[in-house]
Amino acid sequence: MKSRFSLSLVLQLLFAVGTFAVTKIIPTTPGVGATTAQFYSGDSPYFDGPKLDFVNGTSFDWWYFDAVSSDGTYQLTVTFYTTVATTLGFATGFGTTNFVTFTAAYPNGTEYQQFGFAGPVTVSDGLFGIEGNWTGTGFSFTGTADLSYYRIDIDSPSLGIDGSFTFNSIAPAHYPANPYIPGENVSLHLSPVIGWANAIPDSVAVVDFTLAGVGEPLKFTGSGYHDKNWGIEPLPQAVKSWYWGHGHLGPYSIVWFDTLNYDGSEKVNGYLTWNGVIIAVSDSGLTARPTGANSTYPPTSTTGNPGGFHIVYNTKDGVFEADVAGQVAWEPALPVGGYTRWAGKITGGFVGQEKYTGSSVWEWIRFTL
Ligand SMILES: *[C@@H]1O[C@H](CO)[C@@H](O)[C@H](O)[C@H]1NC(C)=O
Ligand SMILES: *[C@@H]1O[C@H](CO)[C@@H](O)[C@H](O)[C@H]1NC(C)=O
Ligand SMILES: *[C@@H]1O[C@H](CO)[C@@H](O)[C@H](O)[C@H]1NC(C)=O
Ligand SMILES: *[C@@H]1O[C@H](CO)[C@@H](O)[C@H](O)[C@H]1NC(C)=O
Ligand SMILES: *[C@@H]1O[C@H](CO)[C@@H](O)[C@H](O)[C@H]1NC(C)=O
Repeated sequence: MKSRFSLSLVLQLLFAVGTFAVTKIIPTTPGVGATTAQFYSGDSPYFDGPKLDFVNGTSFDWWYFDAVSSDGTYQLTVTFYTTVATTLGFATGFGTTNFVTFTAAYPNGTEYQQFGFAGPVTVSDGLFGIEGNWTGTGFSFTGTADLSYYRIDIDSPSLGIDGSFTFNSIAPAHYPANPYIPGENVSLHLSPVIGWANAIPDSVAVVDFTLAGVGEPLKFTGSGYHDKNWGIEPLPQAVKSWYWGHGHLGPYSIVWFDTLNYDGSEKVNGYLTWNGVIIAVSDSGLTARPTGANSTYPPTSTTGNPGGFHIVYNTKDGVFEADVAGQVAWEPALPVGGYTRWAGKITGGFVGQEKYTGSSVWEWIRFTL
């Protein structure tokens, strides 16, 4: 009897595996003309790969990773960018579309912040997971295809950073208003011109770096998060203001987005899990509002940093409420508007049920208010 496993079948399988990984090399200069962005999950089998056909002068694609210690006092964000920096609202370009940022904050307010400028970027995504290399910076990341584990390695003598950052997921990946179900075709639109894919809404993160000139290593465990955004318009045109954040409290993991558009409309997205089971993922039913000092809403051009935020999320299981308050972790100078990232404590739970306290990272980005 003829063997079921013919050589030709084996060759076909090898070929299929080979083609189920896509490697993209992103050059350091933007391409010319209109690019195309992926805005539906069904149009690529890969959750976390590059979402632009090519980076042009007014589009962006980034991979964002953060962690906050369990007590809310240590914070780290590492972001891998492919965009002309002015597209994000920075004052000038960096001479390359490929750059990384490393922004760390210690409990006493000490910040360690570095920008790294890369050569060509290689991102491959496929059946065996994702790998990204921002050549020349010493920054790279890998992730498993099932999105359960990510790791960042940094070896940068010139930026004074050496160490690693790992994520073991505890909350399933999702799109703006849908859970991630491989093969399903759902919208990736955070707005008409911005996409969002949240590979790791919450995880056990282990951060272990030595930073030049800082006596104490940046070493902590806590809650880690990874997502990516991309867009086909400069960010300052695409959005007027947004509040975003994520938190880990008791059995709950929460992510919120509350955006104000130039036409005055408000656009929201929310995600909530209980012990890793999705309770809600939606583009309605959520509000994030500033609290304490500077809590004017909608914010105006003179509104300063709020004292905290109050999040209310209406889910099928009831109303979930949470409050965040903490200290500023990063506040870069931008020519128009501003950006503030905080880290600290989150307290909340379902109304009428047990309240929990945990740790959180959140931001306010605003342009012409
Ligand atoms: C970049 O591509 C977008 C989407 O196609 C297009 O709207 C925009 O005009 C392009 N930018 C440039 C500078 O060509
Ligand atoms: C996914 O849905 C969008 C919007 O309906 C559609 O344009 C696109 O062709 C679909 N893709 C696949 C692979 O079905
Ligand atoms: C990234 O690419 C550079 C240049 O090709 C190479 O030297 C380095 O080993 C790569 N890093 C990783 C982690 O693969
Ligand atoms: C703050 O903490 C860092 C890290 O432990 C330390 O290097 C720095 O000296 C501290 N700064 C002050 C003002 O205490
Ligand atoms: C409120 O905003 C003002 C500036 O507009 C600022 O000085 C103050 O620190 C802000 N309050 C808080 C809690 O950040």
